[in-house]
Amino acid sequence: MSPEYHGPPVDTPALLEAARLARSNSYAPYSVYEVGAAVLGEDGTVYKGCNVENASFGLTVCAERSAIVTMVGAGCRRLKAVAVSTKDGGTPCGMCLQTILEFAGQDDVPIWCADDEGQVRGHTLRSLLPQGFRLG
Ligand code: THU
Repeated sequence: MSPEYHGPPVDTPALLEAARLARSNSYAPYSVYEVGAAVLGEDGTVYKGCNVENASFGLTVCAERSAIVTMVGAGCRRLKAVAVSTKDGGTPCGMCLQTILEFAGQDDVPIWCADDEGQVRGHTLRSLLPQGFRLG
């Protein structure tokens, strides 16, 4: 676990496995870059998402935001951890980090990024987005 993270313990292997499974539903015919994400809600549920592309490229939805939209749609508004599965261990884009911030509350949260070699890198939201935008 990343040294800057001081939150509650998280079942990281289960979250990473959920992200890996979510990736199998990725719809990425244009970039062929498949992404799966899993977020742990404060209700204890793991919410999954994958990237969904469109022929009109700008309409693409990232895996992380897809998972968060599913969480919020289910009535949960706080996340405790995020896991992402890609071929190369890529980190969430800026738009996804800002969306994670929205539902992290005041907490820092771990963001685990796994690649196809089985390598897992532990980041935190604050390390990837140190000055995220807040209203008020
Ligand atoms: N993508 C994600 O799903 N999450 C990110 O944080 C970055 C990028 C997707 C969008 C697109 O389908 C593909 O990866 C290549 O950019």
